[in-house]
Parts: sequence; structure tokens; C-alpha cells
Amino acid sequence: MLLSIESSCDESACTLFRCEDITPSETIQSVMHDELISSQVKLHELYGGVVPELASREHIKNIPLLVEHLLSKNKLSFRDISKIAVTSGPGLKGCLLVGVSYAKGLATGLSVPLYGINHLEGHILSPFCETPIQNIPDLLPALCLLVSGGHTQLIKIHTIGSYEILATTSDDAAGEAFDKIGTLLGFSYPAGRAVSEAAMHGSPIHPLPLPVQDSVHSFSFSGLKTAAFTYVKKQNFINSVREEKDRFISDFSASLEAIIVRSLVSKTTYFLSNGSYRSLLLCGGVAANRYLRSEIESCAAQYTIPCLIPRPFLCTDNATMIGAVAILKYILNGLNPSNENLQVRARWGLSHE
Ligand code: KG4
Ligand code: ZN
Repeated sequence: MLLSIESSCDESACTLFRCEDITPSETIQSVMHDELISSQVKLHELYGGVVPELASREHIKNIPLLVEHLLSKNKLSFRDISKIAVTSGPGLKGCLLVGVSYAKGLATGLSVPLYGINHLEGHILSPFCETPIQNIPDLLPALCLLVSGGHTQLIKIHTIGSYEILATTSDDAAGEAFDKIGTLLGFSYPAGRAVSEAAMHGSPIHPLPLPVQDSVHSFSFSGLKTAAFTYVKKQNFINSVREEKDRFISDFSASLEAIIVRSLVSKTTYFLSNGSYRSLLLCGGVAANRYLRSEIESCAAQYTIPCLIPRPFLCTDNATMIGAVAILKYILNGLNPSNENLQVRARWGLSHE
């Protein structure tokens, strides 16, 4: 069995996969045995954002418990683990160190190979989890929109392991914009999901500026954040009666969602029209947003290419996407593991090995 571990930010997670005798007609999902995740959202909510030191301490407590529970609930023991994959970057250094140290200790104790995995690569390959492995090359090159709490990027996936960053954020990420502006509306951190739920009951009637894009290669959401802060302050909605307040929150959420999605979709369309792609992928926490999912699907339909978006559970941080990279990139290709040389890399771009 392959054990994968994720601890780069505020989720502790582990997944078990069958990793022997995988046939090309199988999917990652079909060889995934079981997964467990423990979110620290409630802990960090109090502070309006992730507190790195607290997050690391939680991982220290949670990772061993989760792994032991995952094994015992599947009537397996440590001896059944034949390979280990762990997120080694990018992310919060202390959090990464907890996962990597635990994985290193376990791999050494069991004398099994250890693979260090890039968290972002986990996100961008997650859309392939339900595709038969033999069909993945037919979907490449793919255009991938990665939208998470820390990253907003458009990436050309040439092959598994070969990535070209076409556009990236020059300041805040899309998820950060949802979180910061959502907090202003009274939602607790991380606010993206609550904003999208409120948006379902509202109309996009509030005028928000389309984020300025000084170059085709950059996204920028800090101007939108400032405009939204000024607008919300002027409306003074906190002092309005309950019904009016709820209406403002729903309509403003719908306006915010509409403008962020429009900015993401317009750049995606630009690159689709200027390149030759065989599929369009959407991933990262913000990919759980229903409106974004449907707009990206329409975009792909316009160019008559398949659109692959993971189920919402696989969009936010998880260990299944980490195991998927280990299998697709390393194990199936017989590549060497990292073992005791594995170091954490708090900053680690997708285009660097
Ligand atoms: O990928 P992820 O779990 O963590 C990072 O690696 O950053 O992404 C978390 C981000 C948060 O900003 C959260 O507010 C956002 O994803 N998010 C959403 C939705 N669900 C999660 N944003 C908009 N709509 C959603 N439904
Ligand atoms: Zn992530």
C-alpha cells in the first residue's frame, strides 16, 4: 500500500492506495483505498486566518493519530505500507516539517521508499483522478486554471512533470479575495464557501470593478479588495434592519462572485483562443465554487474540448491528490524516490524540479 500525507497548511490528511499491479485501464480513484482528513478551520477561525505555529502543533497531534486510525479502520498494520508520499512544499515551513519528519521516520523504520511531492502539482493533477491512466496523454496539452487560497495560476500541462506558467497573480489570490472581502460581510475565515452560498440567494447588482490586468500574464485582486472595502463601508449595512442586511449580503456576495469569476474566465478564454489544448482543467479550493465550475464548463464546451473538474472534496487540500502525483509521476514511471535527502521547500514553483 502507498500511504500519502498532506500537512502544508491547515488540513492534516492521509490516504491509502493500492500501488502494486496498477493497470493502465484503472483510475487513481479506483486504486484509492481510503482517506481521512482533519480540518483545523474551527481553530483558526478565531484569529481570522491561519496561525502557523498553532497549525504546526495541530499537525504534530493529528498526523500520527490519523495514520493509525486509517490503518486500524481498514484492518491494516504499518507493515502493509510499502511506499510513502508526503507534501514537501510549498506551504508553511513548520507545517511541512511536521509531515516530512513523520514520513521520513516512518519510511526509515519500515525501510520503504519516500517521495516528496509538490502540493501545487497535487492540485493540478487532481482533475485526472477519475480518468483511466491510459487516456491521460490524449488530454494533453491541457490548460489548467489553479485557484486556491494562496495561488491563482493558468498553467499549460505539456506532459506529467512538464509545466509552463502562463499567468500568475501579482498580489492576492482569488481565494484570498473571497476570504478577505467575505470577512468584511461578517463571514468567518475562510469565507469563500459562505460567500458562494449567500450568492445563490442574491443578484449581482452592486457595481464592482473588474480586476485590473496590466498584462495577460498576471491576475490581480488587490484593487478589487480595496474597491469592495470602500463600497461596503459607504453602504453602512451593519446598521440596517435584518432583512435589508441579509439582502445586501446576498447581493454583494453575488456581485463579488460574478466579478471574480468573470476575471478568471476571461483570461482562461484568452489563452484557450491563443493556444492549442486538448482539455481544460479547473482545480484548487475555489474550484469548489458552483458558478465558477459551470462557467469553466461552458468555456470548454465553446472550444469543444473536455472539461475536467474534481469533485469538491478533492478541490480543497487533501492527501489523495498527493498520492496521485506519486503514482502518476514516479511509481508508474519507475522514478527514484527522495528518501533521506528529502528537504522541505516552503517556496517551490511548479516550473522548477
Ligand atoms: O486549495 P485550498 O484548500 O487551500 C490552499 O492551498 O490555499 O483553497 C482554500 C481556498 C480558500 O480561500 C477558500 O475560501 C476557497 O478555497 N473556497 C472557495 C469555495 N470553497 C473554498 N471559494 C469560493 N467558493 C467556494 N465554494
Ligand atoms: Zn492547496
